[in-house]
Amino acid sequence: MKVLLTGGAGYIGSHTYVALKEHGHEIVILDNFSNANRLVLDRLAQLFQEKVEHVEADIRDRSTLDDVFEAHKPDAVIHFAGAKAVGESATDPLKYYSNNVSGSQTLLEAMDAAEIRNIVFSSSATVYGVPQALPLTEDHPLSSTNTYGATKLIVEDMLRALHGADPRWSVAILRYFNPVGAHPSGEIGEDPGGIPNNLMPYITQVAVGRLAQLKVYGDDYDTSDGTGVRDYIHVSDLAQGHVAALKLMNTGTCTPINLGTGTGYSVLDMIKTFERVNEVSVPYSIAERRPGDVAANWADAQRAKELLGWQAQLGIEAMCADGWRWQSRNPKGYDQTN
Ligand SMILES: NC(=O)c1ccc[n+]([C@@H]2O[C@H](COP(=O)([O-])OP(=O)(O)OC[C@H]3O[C@@H](n4cnc5c(N)ncnc54)[C@H](O)[C@@H]3O)[C@@H](O)[C@H]2O)c1
Repeated sequence: MKVLLTGGAGYIGSHTYVALKEHGHEIVILDNFSNANRLVLDRLAQLFQEKVEHVEADIRDRSTLDDVFEAHKPDAVIHFAGAKAVGESATDPLKYYSNNVSGSQTLLEAMDAAEIRNIVFSSSATVYGVPQALPLTEDHPLSSTNTYGATKLIVEDMLRALHGADPRWSVAILRYFNPVGAHPSGEIGEDPGGIPNNLMPYITQVAVGRLAQLKVYGDDYDTSDGTGVRDYIHVSDLAQGHVAALKLMNTGTCTPINLGTGTGYSVLDMIKTFERVNEVSVPYSIAERRPGDVAANWADAQRAKELLGWQAQLGIEAMCADGWRWQSRNPKGYDQTN
């Protein structure tokens, strides 16, 4: 298929580019580089010895989207573009409504006009709110505990309404759990600006000496060791999940699907495994719980297996080893002059 990746220069998008290429798909990246480094394009080009087809544009720019659909005529869109920091969504909510909600609406309008009605959407396990039961199945009630989550839920609702009104649309709503790690080449990986919001880049930046100490937010949760438990999934597995989700294109269905491993690990499990596998130390201290964090969540990963024939292959050791390979080879991320 020919696939347009909005936000394709970002962390998950760049790994999905690799997985799609390996399966012989044709790809165009559309990204405004608001949270990505242009050097990622060079790395992707090196991996495949081929120029990366890309457009620098914002998904809110309707006329550019029209031009891109006219010029490239993609069969489907995988829609990663959006802002994703929970904390920032509390202090700058309009950025989230504009980028995530308005941006998605503009994209869908342009797709409809171009008669491209196949979309894979990056949603998140955050749409389950506070878990009422574990593991989380796709039928768990939906709610939001923060503005970022609210925008994901609104876009999910928009997609369900669109499909309800016009069943020519094929929609795969992928609810990611906690993507970590990096491509095994060490050439691409997660490169957040500022203090990382997520655990793995925080661990790798402490291990590489960019940050002095990791803060573990809360050790008094009702979990085996008191620290938060999450379903970490290797980003390469997640990327393969997108390749598999293309099976749902041109089916006239609208389906939410969890992409997780089905297993939860605590923060301390992650730190200890990272130290053991990579033979590095990660000093940490215990800090207050962060408001809005839940004690534990992990996925029921059955639907992805049944519908897509996909299941995660890589375990916690590979997540830790690959995350470290990326960071140790690129201590400052993509731009070593930072
Ligand atoms: N990383 C996670 O933990 C996680 C978990 C669940 C869901 N998601 C969702 O997956 C998607 C990808 O996440 P990621 O971790 O790769 O994030 P990322 O920030 O690395 O990638 C997002 C990309 O979108 C681009 N972008 C942002 N706004 C844009 C706009 N208006 N127009 C064009 N490009 C724009 C950014 O420059 C960036 O390259 C996001 O929608 C995110 O909400 C991520």
